[in-house]
Amino acid sequence: MSGLFSGKGFSGKIKITQNEFVQLRDIIYELSGIYLQDNRKFLIENRFAPRLSELNLKSYSAYINYLKNHNKGKTEELSMLTELITTNETSFFRDNSQLKVFRNHTLKKIIDESNKTGRREIKIWSAGCSSGEEPYTLAIILHEALKDEIRKWRISITANDISTNVLKMAQKGIYTRHALRTTPIHIVKKYFKDRGNEVFQLNPEVKRLVRFGKINLNLDRDVARIPKSNVIFCRNVIIYFDKNMKKKVLSNFHNNLLDNGHLYVGHSESLHFVKDKFKPRQHAGTITYHKI
Ligand SMILES: C[S@@+](CC[C@H](N)C(=O)[O-])C[C@H]1O[C@@H](n2cnc3c(N)ncnc32)[C@H](O)[C@@H]1O
Repeated sequence: MSGLFSGKGFSGKIKITQNEFVQLRDIIYELSGIYLQDNRKFLIENRFAPRLSELNLKSYSAYINYLKNHNKGKTEELSMLTELITTNETSFFRDNSQLKVFRNHTLKKIIDESNKTGRREIKIWSAGCSSGEEPYTLAIILHEALKDEIRKWRISITANDISTNVLKMAQKGIYTRHALRTTPIHIVKKYFKDRGNEVFQLNPEVKRLVRFGKINLNLDRDVARIPKSNVIFCRNVIIYFDKNMKKKVLSNFHNNLLDNGHLYVGHSESLHFVKDKFKPRQHAGTITYHKI
């Protein structure tokens, strides 16, 4: 997949009216905090066409009615809606300049600190982890940095997403070559078993560092369940939210982070509107945010 809201397409689409679009947008926003700009009608038409056809519905008004009134399948249909509306684009070692900063600054600082205090513990949260490539990449980076010493560390990488489908994929730890398109070849050789037919299986010692679970960043009670973290990765997720939702999510991240905690967002995402909570620090090619 490439680009914002791309993929999941289907031809032979029913047109959505402006009124229907606004109603559906509100339902999606209330459910997930994802906000669709006016120019996203085509995205809805493209992604929802197969679902309308499956339900034998002839208009978006009928689908909205189905969503609101269909007692038996109501929550199921909301899950279906979530699957259709989320964009799960990701890859192993995505945005390597950020990952180098994580390795050489954030992780180095945590390791140096542990040498002084003797406390060998690191807690990372990957919020909006999609099919697992991001948290597993972090687990590989920890293996590379700590080597055999890793056994002496208590490591927890908590990885969450709102989409059940991507979490199922993540839990399997089996990927195609496409997922590894931005991964250095020596890392592929070291941490994956080539199963043939372009299929690669992640090594169990990496896999066991990551715990997956479903959460909705729009629900404070879901977020409150996440253990406090030294580092949060939430890359290419808040880009889909409006300003109110961003503020809420970032306030929850601020609460979740331990003192001196670090936050990584996507390289095109700016946090200028929460200056009171996070201090930016410029590195070569990337900005990290530090809890105030
Ligand atoms: C584009 S992917 C980013 C994956 C990864 N962080 C990366 O940068 O490669 C965005 C992910 O955010 C998830 N997401 C969107 N809204 C969410 C919400 N309200 N709560 C939890 N996850 C959400 C989507 O399901 C999707 O898997």
